[in-house]
Amino acid sequence: MKRPNRLPFCERILYGADYNPDQWLDDETVLLEDVALMRKINATSASIGIFSWTALEPSPGIYTFDWLDTTMDRFAKAGLKVFLATPTASKPMWLSELHPEIRRVGRDGRREPSGGRHNHCPTSPVYREAAQRINRELALRYGRHPSLALWHVGNEFNGECHCERCKGAFHDWLRRRYGSLGDLNRVWWTSFWNHTFTDWSQVPTFDQSIDGLTLDWLRFVNDQHVSFIENEMAPLRDLAPQVPCTTNFMGTNHTTNYWQWSRTLDCISNDIYPLHDDREDSWRKSLGSDFTHSLVRGFAGGNPWIMMECSPSSVNWGKVNKLKRPGVHLQEVLQAVANGADVVHYFQWRKGRGGFEKFHGAVIDHEGGSDSRVFKECAEVGRVLQTLSPVVGLSPSRAPVALVYDWEARWALEASAGPKRGTYGDRYTEACVEHFRALRSSGVEVDLVSTDADFSAYRMVVTPALYLLTDDTARRLAEFAAAGGAWVATYLTGYVDGNNRCWRGGFPGPCLREVFGLWNEEVDYLLDDERVRIQGSVFGAAGCTEATDIVERLHSEGAQTLATVASEFYAGSPIVLQNNWGLGKTVYVGARLAEEGYIGFYEHLAAKLGLPRLVLPRGVIRKTRIGADGPVDFLFNYTRHEAAIDLGEATFHRVSSGAACSGKTTLLPYDSLLSGALLPSNLRHTQNPTRSTQNELQPS
Ligand code: GAL
Repeated sequence: MKRPNRLPFCERILYGADYNPDQWLDDETVLLEDVALMRKINATSASIGIFSWTALEPSPGIYTFDWLDTTMDRFAKAGLKVFLATPTASKPMWLSELHPEIRRVGRDGRREPSGGRHNHCPTSPVYREAAQRINRELALRYGRHPSLALWHVGNEFNGECHCERCKGAFHDWLRRRYGSLGDLNRVWWTSFWNHTFTDWSQVPTFDQSIDGLTLDWLRFVNDQHVSFIENEMAPLRDLAPQVPCTTNFMGTNHTTNYWQWSRTLDCISNDIYPLHDDREDSWRKSLGSDFTHSLVRGFAGGNPWIMMECSPSSVNWGKVNKLKRPGVHLQEVLQAVANGADVVHYFQWRKGRGGFEKFHGAVIDHEGGSDSRVFKECAEVGRVLQTLSPVVGLSPSRAPVALVYDWEARWALEASAGPKRGTYGDRYTEACVEHFRALRSSGVEVDLVSTDADFSAYRMVVTPALYLLTDDTARRLAEFAAAGGAWVATYLTGYVDGNNRCWRGGFPGPCLREVFGLWNEEVDYLLDDERVRIQGSVFGAAGCTEATDIVERLHSEGAQTLATVASEFYAGSPIVLQNNWGLGKTVYVGARLAEEGYIGFYEHLAAKLGLPRLVLPRGVIRKTRIGADGPVDFLFNYTRHEAAIDLGEATFHRVSSGAACSGKTTLLPYDSLLSGALLPSNLRHTQNPTRSTQNELQPS
């Protein structure tokens, strides 16, 4: 889908929160205060009604829209916009009682109770029909309301259901995909452990020992959610076609292949909760957020997107829920804007008095007024965002390097017994985040793309742990290299095909031994405290680094060795290799390297390939949004320490104080600076900002 550069409802950066007036219907004063307080922080908008189905329809076909009418009108009068939610992320108790089949069934065959949320059966025709009915009512009543800006469809779609109906739908899905049971048995390799199916009815929804099944089940679950949301959007699009639809993503959530979702939604939204902990290495977490924002930017095709949820202070569900240190909140918000967010919304506007989230951060605390530290910070953020209107609709600059993030590779890897589990989250995402972080730390800009991307737009494509690799993707990547690009692949590349069956003829498959000029004979998985020494000039002055977790035993078959293993019984084997392929290059990194090793490696590669690079102190990042009026630079110190840099001729402004900075400058802990085009203190916007060049900023 070709997305417009501008979110149609954004004349300025929108600022607001999830708002739950339905929790306060017995206290009109609170509701009136809310709007006044929203204006006080320069809020523009709110997401309303996310879990409000029973408040809208207390019994079948009986609607109580009065409170929502009042809210919508109140918002219109105050000049506030509404992202109106369809309330389907949580089922009404009466509907669960009438139709127990809308409740999910777990792997153990047990039907879940109606409580919690995000737990409807995505296949149930009853639930699909009920969702359409309430959505139709909402579209009929509010589709032309002046405050309505966006449909917020459901909430964080997630999870899976193993009921008989889902099982039947899975069988139909498999029939469409494979045609015959014979073909299914073949691609799932079911003669292993006597798993051959002789009737469709025998195919389960879960069997860990059939890794092809696990992969297809995840594909099916994802498709089922996508078809559910398409079913939800049909009446909205029919009755209010001028209002775009979105749903809030969760970054790299396991069961949702958001590349696919992005094709069906009108605009892209994401929720993010970085859990900043103010530790020595918290800058790594901030780069992790940059990874997520870059991924979301990729979903949006490089165009502006919506940060639908983040916390204005702590959350309540972490192991430890720390308050954000001074500067962190503002920086996190600006970081999203720098990466293309044209909307900043919080979860949540006001803390509810009860329920699971009564201690979750909110703009308004239980005290109820505007005197709290968090409220004041939110007001400050609102003031700063108001000054940023010139960036609205501008795209973040296109990077010279693309990094592929692929749910299919992740699912296949997780479904396979053998490859070691990740230390945080899943092994696949861990590899992608580490390579992204190293590239950014070496000063190289990175876009995140899917396996379907047009690689020719990039100078270098990095595909960490692309464990599942189809013929088609392998061919397109090899063609990219042959045409003059550089393709960097890593350990765990090309082990299995699209059905999670190992490629024959030696890894990396399919047929990539020739492209990379090497053979990956076997893999050594290390104990947590084990390290393998690696040496090579590609690691800069140190000339060495360490490997953890995974070391492949590689043999060169024509590729040039850039680094070798220096300990263990396989000392001397090549571990980083480079091959000439057509007009370009392929590079293979056969081990999980220490961070400094990766950074040295990417510095080396960037120099060799002549990639543009901006060298800044560790944890200091610049991000640029480019548009018709020229570039706008954001400069962040993600560390808790001061950092010295030389801004050269460029003029930046410290966002917290508006003070102008140029030349040798000390960045404060968690500092955020904006380039001279935007002056936060006096809202001035120059029409022709000077373009920062690659070498203007230097560590001093
Ligand atoms: C999100 C969810 C919100 C709220 C928030 C708390 O995942 O969409 O409704 O629960 O988490 O951090």
